Amino acid sequence: MTAKCNSKTVFIARLLKATLNYAFSASIMRKKTFYLIGSVSFICWTVILCYLFIHKPLGKGFKYNEVVIQVENLENELQSQLKANELLLLHLKNIKKQIQETGKDLKKILEDNPDALDLKSDKITINKEDSICVLLLACNRITVKRNLDQLLKYRPDEKSFPLIVSQDCNHRATTNAIMSYGNQLTLIRQPDMSDIPLVGREKKFKGYYKISRHYGWALNQTFHKFNCDTAIIVEDDLDIAPDFFEYFRGLYPILKSDPTLWCVSAWNDNGKEALVANDPTLLHRTDFFPGLGWMLTKDIWLELQTKWPKAFWDDWIRQPAQRKERACIRPEISRTKTFGKIGVSNGLFYEKHLKFIKLNDEFVPFSKRNLTHLLKDNYDVAFLKSVYGSPPVSLQQLLSGSISTNGSVRLTYKTKDSFKKIAKSLGLMEDFKSGVPRIGYRGVVSFMHKHRRVYLAPIAEWKGYDTSWT
Ligand code: UD1
Ligand code: MN
Repeated sequence: MTAKCNSKTVFIARLLKATLNYAFSASIMRKKTFYLIGSVSFICWTVILCYLFIHKPLGKGFKYNEVVIQVENLENELQSQLKANELLLLHLKNIKKQIQETGKDLKKILEDNPDALDLKSDKITINKEDSICVLLLACNRITVKRNLDQLLKYRPDEKSFPLIVSQDCNHRATTNAIMSYGNQLTLIRQPDMSDIPLVGREKKFKGYYKISRHYGWALNQTFHKFNCDTAIIVEDDLDIAPDFFEYFRGLYPILKSDPTLWCVSAWNDNGKEALVANDPTLLHRTDFFPGLGWMLTKDIWLELQTKWPKAFWDDWIRQPAQRKERACIRPEISRTKTFGKIGVSNGLFYEKHLKFIKLNDEFVPFSKRNLTHLLKDNYDVAFLKSVYGSPPVSLQQLLSGSISTNGSVRLTYKTKDSFKKIAKSLGLMEDFKSGVPRIGYRGVVSFMHKHRRVYLAPIAEWKGYDTSWT
């Protein structure tokens, strides 16, 4: 190969030389011709060089696999460099924030926390005391006072949880009710009161369009105008538990450090008294976005804001394109409860489910507890072991109470209809959103039945949610 290429080059070079010699020896050559030949020679030479460069022999020792490995190594190196840069940026942002908030200088901060700039540790220093904004969405119900009274009663202090009340609907009496709280909160008002033109069947969903418009605007205000880094979102018809703030405070570092989480919610969709354990410390992961008192970070908002939907924001957020297989944390016993029987959805589930949700009344000091068992790597192993290690039983056995073992048991569902049938007979919510059942995690719905933990689970070889299940 090498010899062949070299002889070709020699031949072409000789040809060029001969051409030039001829041109020179013939005295008829004029200046113009000289330049022309010069240019042609230059182009030829470049072409030859390119040819040689492209067809450069790889040599005897060339091994394709080795090169692939080297390229892969290089790629890995670049990626870890990128990660390190991202981490460094996070550390720096953190330090900047600390400087602004505490007034300490860099030296002091590094003295207090020598790891603050250590890229070897991937511990992102999360300041547990970061302030978390609370965004309350109101419209035309003066009963917002019921919610505000509780928020202000249980809020530990204003600095940790600044309260923003965003009002839609231009309802005077509600505005007055909110303003009566003075500077304990900041009132903002959604300015776009234009009608939303809808045709045909869509007309009856106008309320959902308005809610979505309000949410989009209010979240933008929260994260951009008020520059909040994290926010808890509540609606004006929620009662809250005494440890509502403590719950979010405790879970804040978990939400910030686990990229497979995208929200913390205070709500258990299947939180009826008979379906929950009497243990207010119990927390779970869920693939079903619960809403109704939930915390999200600015990072997630930046992701959602550009494609925020015109209506049905909560069902939209549950779609795979938004969720991206991320989960939320939810409590065993709800930290919120809705009293809004009359609302946009006209109490769709109110009489059957919502009014029976148990609201926690015991204070759990979450911020002092170690909650790392909720991080995906820890949680999933224990969860799957617990679910698939539980003996399988039939619905009949469970209902008749003829189970000889004491601990948890597992009910299997294989189709949408079998899930619905079991759910209905046990008082669970039967619906699916984007294929995910309420409170489901990896397809499993975990609840209590007569003081026994029951897992309503798909087969162990489960391959993921089927979005056609509605
Ligand atoms: C249901 C959900 C709610 C969700 C909404 C949108 C439950 C119990 N509630 O609303 O979490 O956000 O669907 O899919 O599952 N609002 C406005 N502008 C309006 C009307 C209402 O901003 O024109 C506000 C209300 O103040 C309230 C929120 O939107 O904060 C929800 O309104 P509500 O009337 O309570 O509707 P739901 O049927 O409960
Ligand atoms: Mn409501």
